[in-house]
Amino acid sequence: MLQLDEMLKNAESEISSASHMKRIEELKVQYLGKKGELTQILRSMSSLNPEDRPAAGKAANEAREKLNVLFENAEKIISNRFIAERLDKERLDVTMPGKKHVIGHTHPLTQVIRKIEDIFIGLGYQIAEGPEIESVHYNFDQLNTPENHPSKDEQDTFYFNAETLLRTQTSPVQARVMEKNRPPIRIICPGRVYRSDEVDATHSPIFHQVEALVVDKNITMGNLIATLKLFAKELFGESTEIRLRPHYFPFTEPSAEVDVSCWVCKGKGCPVCKNEGFIEILGAGMVHPNVLRNCGIDPDIYSGFAFGLGVERTAMAVFGINDLRLLYENDMRFLSQF
Ligand code: PHE
Repeated sequence: MLQLDEMLKNAESEISSASHMKRIEELKVQYLGKKGELTQILRSMSSLNPEDRPAAGKAANEAREKLNVLFENAEKIISNRFIAERLDKERLDVTMPGKKHVIGHTHPLTQVIRKIEDIFIGLGYQIAEGPEIESVHYNFDQLNTPENHPSKDEQDTFYFNAETLLRTQTSPVQARVMEKNRPPIRIICPGRVYRSDEVDATHSPIFHQVEALVVDKNITMGNLIATLKLFAKELFGESTEIRLRPHYFPFTEPSAEVDVSCWVCKGKGCPVCKNEGFIEILGAGMVHPNVLRNCGIDPDIYSGFAFGLGVERTAMAVFGINDLRLLYENDMRFLSQF
């Protein structure tokens, strides 16, 4: 009995000071295991007098019960503490400021192209496409371009061979569309074009244009001017004015270069427009009868207008950018401003 009491006292203090489950398991082995203290005490009972054995056995069973209760309680305490600690460690502060996800956005050139597309889709135009690797036939011949025209020069143009080149303009798409479709035709064609130009603040050998073509009965220069005015106001703001200067393109007659009033000084003259008050953004004109004829459209019944707009210039105007090279350098400090 003394031995049992002694054992229980030790067990109680050891179990209550156990701080984790592993220690509890060790103590279970130590007290209740096959070679544990309780088992040894039970074994030693065989040396007792037979009449003392029942009482001793009962005491031993009670001791076992007590040990079990001690272990159970200790396990409960340890596991509660474990849960409490975990909850504390993994606490979520929902009031903490979130981590910002940096999401990119479309390139300023793409933004301008999409804005232009939106404006013309709103006017009932369709979007057309053509190849960047183009034939001399479509890039020049179908467009009434004479043999000796400077744009045909190797100095200006990237040729693969005598018949194939990187298109110098989006205008070949005019011919491709007219060959495949009958009037009324209303299309725009955004795309990349190539010219053998030195890179500087306003030139790049690769740049973008948006071509527009309208062919129907009774299309006049008045329709062209009205369309350009509406377009310029939509893109640059209500107060924008346009100005047409006579020009020459082989595939339009009459032809004009079209300027918009400077978005900075509103036409008064400033460094951005080089004191002109206006900035050139596109070439335009009435589709030349020869071009209509080349594409199987009778110029005595139908007429049309076309224009080709420089996207880089337009983006520079819309965003107030003074060097076109910035648009190609992929510098996030620059691009993220737009
Ligand atoms: N293709 C001409 C250019 O690149 C622009 C243009 C297009 C002019 C359509 C008139 C009509 O300069």
